[in-house]
Amino acid sequence: MKIGILGAGHIGKALARLLAEAGHDIGISNSRGPDTLRELAEQLGHGVKAYTNEDAARFGELVIETVPFGHYADLPAVQMEGKIVIDTANYYPERDGQIDLGGLSESAFMARHLSGARVVKAFNAIQASHLETLGDTSKPLGERRAIPIASDDAEAKAVVSTLIEEIGFAAVDNGNLERSKNQQPGTPIYGAEVNAQQAQDILAKQ
Ligand SMILES: NC(=O)c1ccc[n+]([C@@H]2O[C@H](COP(=O)([O-])OP(=O)(O)OC[C@H]3O[C@@H](n4cnc5c(N)ncnc54)[C@H](OP(=O)(O)O)[C@@H]3O)[C@@H](O)[C@H]2O)c1
Repeated sequence: MKIGILGAGHIGKALARLLAEAGHDIGISNSRGPDTLRELAEQLGHGVKAYTNEDAARFGELVIETVPFGHYADLPAVQMEGKIVIDTANYYPERDGQIDLGGLSESAFMARHLSGARVVKAFNAIQASHLETLGDTSKPLGERRAIPIASDDAEAKAVVSTLIEEIGFAAVDNGNLERSKNQQPGTPIYGAEVNAQQAQDILAKQ
């Protein structure tokens, strides 16, 4: 699948490498333009390409947005219309500034901004270093590190679950985008090194 990744930091780089190794075509962007990313793209290999935000979003059949939440307004909503968009972001007011979410979860707010996109919250509750090292496709699903996901779109969640399994983790369904509040920083599942059953038990209590 063609996957556009907006953001080439800790999470963007880790996902680019893992998904490229799993056989996907990756186009990646940052805030400074493709010239600043070509070296990284070469290091990642597997034909990873450096793009602008707009071109990465256009390239992806599925798009991953992994820029700091405070930069959400820069994301090119038009190019993501109708596409599955994975939102990895966490909102930290001290880093991102004061943003009025209007009582919405961070991802429901993001979905309102990316009008027409099929937003799935995923990869926000795992540290980048664990994402890089803990995936293991040789393990049965029940023994893998769990990754909670949330979306209002069941079909999109199924696609994202498959990607998560391809890179050696197990997806755990945390319900709709409003429920994604239960996987934000400070919640029991955030950063928890648990398998799918343990993750389900934690999420069921919330
Ligand atoms: N780090 C973690 O362990 C972790 C875990 C879970 C979730 N998250 C969340 O995932 C998101 C990304 O985190 P991170 O740690 O990967 O961030 P990071 O290491 O600080 O990297 C941020 C990346 O986003 C790019 N960026 C910033 N503004 C942009 C814009 N307007 N357009 C395109 N790219 C832009 C930056 O590009 P430039 O370098 O060119 O500015 C950089 O490549 C955050 O919301 C974070 O809270 C992080």
